[in-house]
Amino acid sequence: MGRVPPRIAGHVAVRHGGRLAYGAGSGMVDYSSSITPLGTPPAVVRAIRGAARAVSEYPDPGSGALLGALSRYTGLPRPNLVAGNGAVEIIYAAAHAFGGGRTLVCAPTFGEYEAAVRLYHGGSGIVRHAGKKKKDAWLSPTDIDGLVRRVPDNGMVFLCNPNNPTGDLLTRRQVREILDAAASAGSCHVLVDECFIEMSRNPRESVMPYVRKEKYGNLVVLRSLTKSFGLPGIRVGYAAAPRDVADVIRKTTVPWSVSCLAEAAGVAALGDAHNILGRTRDAVRAELRYMQGRLSKIPGVECRDSDANFVLVKTRLGAPRLQGLLAGRGMLVRDCSDFAGLDGHHVRIAIKRRRENRMLADALEDIMR
Ligand SMILES: Cc1ncc(COP(=O)(O)O)c(C=O)c1O
Repeated sequence: MGRVPPRIAGHVAVRHGGRLAYGAGSGMVDYSSSITPLGTPPAVVRAIRGAARAVSEYPDPGSGALLGALSRYTGLPRPNLVAGNGAVEIIYAAAHAFGGGRTLVCAPTFGEYEAAVRLYHGGSGIVRHAGKKKKDAWLSPTDIDGLVRRVPDNGMVFLCNPNNPTGDLLTRRQVREILDAAASAGSCHVLVDECFIEMSRNPRESVMPYVRKEKYGNLVVLRSLTKSFGLPGIRVGYAAAPRDVADVIRKTTVPWSVSCLAEAAGVAALGDAHNILGRTRDAVRAELRYMQGRLSKIPGVECRDSDANFVLVKTRLGAPRLQGLLAGRGMLVRDCSDFAGLDGHHVRIAIKRRRENRMLADALEDIMR
């Protein structure tokens, strides 16, 4: 093999949740990837079946139908939108384009931000902000003053809102402080990952309206259809940004990255978004309350408040051990030991329907007895 740059040779894939770790069809109930408890909408499945007729042709490289649906959904003109093969393609595209200076990330947070910057630019410019440590070692990236102080003059900030895996939601005002700091820096783009915000208790904290009002020239809002519409296997994500920023991101995405199946699924999901997301939020809110009520009563278990469709849980057991014990009972949770900033005792549990939630709470109660 010829010479490969060390940043590529040394690239390590980020670990994720998902049933596949245990083999498809294992019968394991998956709480490790945080997908809507309502599952894939039937109309979306029908649309994918219908689109199968078109697989003998290339998809539209401009994803015109999907961008049209996204434009109606977000209220943004098409030139402000970029579609991708899942939100993760946009993360890599934005990191490629804008991640050449210093990069600020919170800890703990979604691992692909750092991985993308490392792949394209190496890791030397990455700064992790761990927030204020409370005495119980719970971490919060809501130390806005600290974050603002670290906004780089030249580079990028990744904010996950609500944050994976903590479930913390920054208010729009808090995000604005970071956007203002970045706007007054020399050249700093801020990617606000809102992949879970449509399922949160307060979707109004979204900064999408700032893209609509063209308030910031350096803002990229990232969304995904994966989580809220139950489409992890089909891969549809998008960015909303000022036109010139969207143009640059578009240049760094891969041609035909949105398949005809993904495009059809996206159009169908967005066509009924109001109804689907309303029902999803109601279900998440009710089940989150149930799970937090149950888990917080179990001795040796700390269940963090969450503004997303998952909860971060700390127990006295090591996370791999707890994951193994639950897997032995047919339940897969996300061992969070590999998240920078967590101490090996945290697992992330997706909020599902009552039957599954009860099953997990019962099992945890039994294990911790
Ligand atoms: C915070 C966050 N952003 C983005 C993604 C990637 O989403 P997609 O499946 O649309 O690529 C994930 C997936 O787990 C995530 O947790």
